This record gives sequence, C-alpha cells and structure tokens, in this order.
Amino acid sequence: MTDVLIRGRVLTFVREPEGIDDTRAYRYYEDGAVLVANGKVADVGSYADVARQAGSSVRIADHRPNLVLPGLIDTHLHFPQTQAIASYGAQLLEWLNTYIFVEEQKFKEPQHAALIAGRFMDELLSNGTTTAVAYCSVHPESVDAFFTAAEERNMLMIGGKVMMDRNAPEALRDTPGQGFDETKHLIGKWHGRGRAHYAISPRFAITSTPEQMEMSRALVAEHPDCYVQTHLSENKDEIAFATSLYPEAKDYTDIYARYGLLGRKTLLGHCIHMSDREISVLAETSAVGVFCPTSNLFLGSGLFDRDRFDKLGARHAVATDVGAGTSFSMLETMDEAYKVLHLQGQRLSPFNSFYMMTLGNARALDLEHRIGSLYAGADADIAILDSRAKPAMELRMRVASSLAEELFVLQTMGDDRCVAEVYVAGQPMKQRREGPAKHLAPKNAELA
Ligand code: GUN
Ligand code: FE
Repeated sequence: MTDVLIRGRVLTFVREPEGIDDTRAYRYYEDGAVLVANGKVADVGSYADVARQAGSSVRIADHRPNLVLPGLIDTHLHFPQTQAIASYGAQLLEWLNTYIFVEEQKFKEPQHAALIAGRFMDELLSNGTTTAVAYCSVHPESVDAFFTAAEERNMLMIGGKVMMDRNAPEALRDTPGQGFDETKHLIGKWHGRGRAHYAISPRFAITSTPEQMEMSRALVAEHPDCYVQTHLSENKDEIAFATSLYPEAKDYTDIYARYGLLGRKTLLGHCIHMSDREISVLAETSAVGVFCPTSNLFLGSGLFDRDRFDKLGARHAVATDVGAGTSFSMLETMDEAYKVLHLQGQRLSPFNSFYMMTLGNARALDLEHRIGSLYAGADADIAILDSRAKPAMELRMRVASSLAEELFVLQTMGDDRCVAEVYVAGQPMKQRREGPAKHLAPKNAELA
C-alpha cells in the first residue's frame, strides 16, 4: 500500500492526564507528522525528523493547521437505531416499546440492514470515529450487514446480535437455544476475520429469561476472547423490573455476576444508579461501566458518577449510545459529559476528554496496542480535526491562546464539520466521499 506522510499538529496520549496541567500525559508536535506504511503507523514525531526518515519520494498529506489525532472510539451504540434518534418524549421502557422494538423489526430484511449499515459506518467516519462497539438487532442478517459494511471500509469494529427471549414483541424474540446457536455461528463467521471482533450481547436482564442467561454464560465460557455487552442500571423503573425478575439476586449487578457475565471484556452500558457494592463488584471483576451522557440526558435517566468509579477503582469508558444518544459525534458526547459531571461538582479537563475518546476507550477495550494512540506499530486510524470549521468557532479561536483552550472549544462547539478527514488503516475515507482531497500534494516538494 502507498506510504503517506500526514503533516499537521500531532496530539497523542501516553497515559491518563492527572489534570489540565499534566503535559507529560501526551505528546504534542506543533509541526508534526505521522508516517503511514502498509496501513500502520511507521513513525511519529516532528515533521523535520519524520520527513527525513521517509525520504523524498513519499506522498505528503498536508493538514496544517489542523490537529492530527488517533481515530476516535465509541464503546456503545445501536446500529439499528440509526433512524430512531430523536424519538420524542418517553423514558427508557416506554421508549423501547414505543419506538425501538418497532424500528428493530425492519432489520430482518437484509436489504434494509445493508443500507443502514453502510450509512451507519459512513456517519461514524464522518464524525472521526474509526472504531465502535455496536449492538445489532436480534436477526443474524443484521450482524452480517454490520460486519460486511465494516469490512468494506476496513474498520476495526466490534458487534453482535442481541439475544432477547422475553418482554419484547414476538418478531424480536429468539429462544435460548436459537440465541446460542446463532451467536455461535456468527462468532465462527466473523470473530477475528480481518479487523472484526464479536461481542456476545444479551440485551439486558429484562429481555432474557434465566435459561437465556445460562446460555450466555456458556457462550462466554466457550469464547473468552469475545467481548460481552449489556445494559445495567440505567433507569429506576428498569432496575425495579429487572430485580423483580431475579429475586434471588442481591441487586441488578448481581444478576450478571451470577451468570458469569462480568469480566475484563464486559462492557456495561450506563451504570447510573449503582451502590458502592455494585461498583466494587465491577472493580473486582474488571468489567467496564460505559458513560453515555447524551443518552442519559435525552431519556432522563440520570447522571453517571465518574468520581465514585475512580474512587472505588472501577474501569469506565464513554460512548454515544445512538439512538437514545442524540449524536454520532464523540465531540458532542464529551460536551455533554462535561455538563453531566459539572452538575455533580466534578470537573472534566479537555485533556481528559480527548484522552477518554482515544487512549482511554482503547484501554477499556484492551486494544491500546492497536488503536487509540499514535506510535510506530499502531494501526493507522487517524482523525484530522479543524477547530475553526464553523464561523463561531473561527471567531472564538482568534482569542484562544493554549492547546487546552482549543480542545475545549472543539468539544464544546464542535461536531462532524470539524472532522476535516479521517484515515482508516492509512486510507483517507471522508473527503473521498465528499469531494476531492485538496490537502493531497503529489510528492514531497519541500524535500525534493
Ligand atoms: N436497555 C436495553 N436496551 C436498550 C437500548 O436499546 N437503549 C438504551 N439506552 N438502553 C437499553
Ligand atoms: Fe444502549
């Protein structure tokens, strides 16, 4: 594959920042470059150093004055809810029954699933998101559509068929045996093929019988290298319903613990109304609580308590949760994350926000050796961000005097318009669809 030298203001994290002044948590090259070869990062550093190593024949993609970041990562969303964003008025259980369990029925139809899967991937890319963890519908066809669309774009994607055998319309229910067999078949077909990873996905305790939870336990035991995703403690009515269905469990978290579903590869959407005991169980099992701020505000679910997760030593990640989440943009998601934490007297520095969308989420997926930061050997998934993309941002940026301020403007005012380009395994994916790539110079003119 052709090598390319991406020039711009390179920003990549090496660890979680301890605060807004923690300059050792990241590397920043004001005139920086990332050399890409064969879909991987070959070198990162100052433009002068990297260009010298690259030689005079390398092609340059000049993105100055934009920022060059690792591709953004979304750890929880629902691909069949792409057309259900902005469904009015209801909290979780009513919203699921009124809108979502109607919408997801369309995904039995392979043509519909393929159409939405393609648009879904392009929307992620347009927002600078190069990896996401998604729920598909109950239909295996939706999983095939999802991974096919990801494969066509060479994206590192994680997903799985939801299993649900009760408290849902008949057209969306499987059975414990069917959920097991279909999941097993899909794991065999997709997990580890190219950049695909499978997530075993019992939707949540309400829509699975104890028999299906047993089957989920068996799937997890047989496929310890697959992810596990479900929902936990999002809404008070949901918690009351879930715990009434499993009266032997100590609390909602204990339902999943009893079925062996909590482990290092488990992603638990929401985790809002949690006791210290429950958060401590996540800490002990290394399961990840996923903070979905736009969704939690939209459905009126509640406020994720990040500081309590940190204090009790539990892992957490951040995500859009489209279509309860109201945007595909991780920038808009961090804007709302800032406000949700602010309401609880917790402060989220812009460096921490950008860490969370990149290396933080990669670590939550145990994928930091491949994605989430830019270093030699990583996959070349890269987002190019323009902090002056909107007139109001351009005006605001005229008086910004630090990188921290610029990042905060990006997350507070930014959206997909701020993503100037996105590279997947070294290939530009955004401008290719939207028009000619103006930044591409034919060769390294300055070095010739
Ligand atoms: N809990 C179970 N299913 C869902 C879903 O699709 N979205 C959200 N936000 N919560 C859920
Ligand atoms: Fe969700």
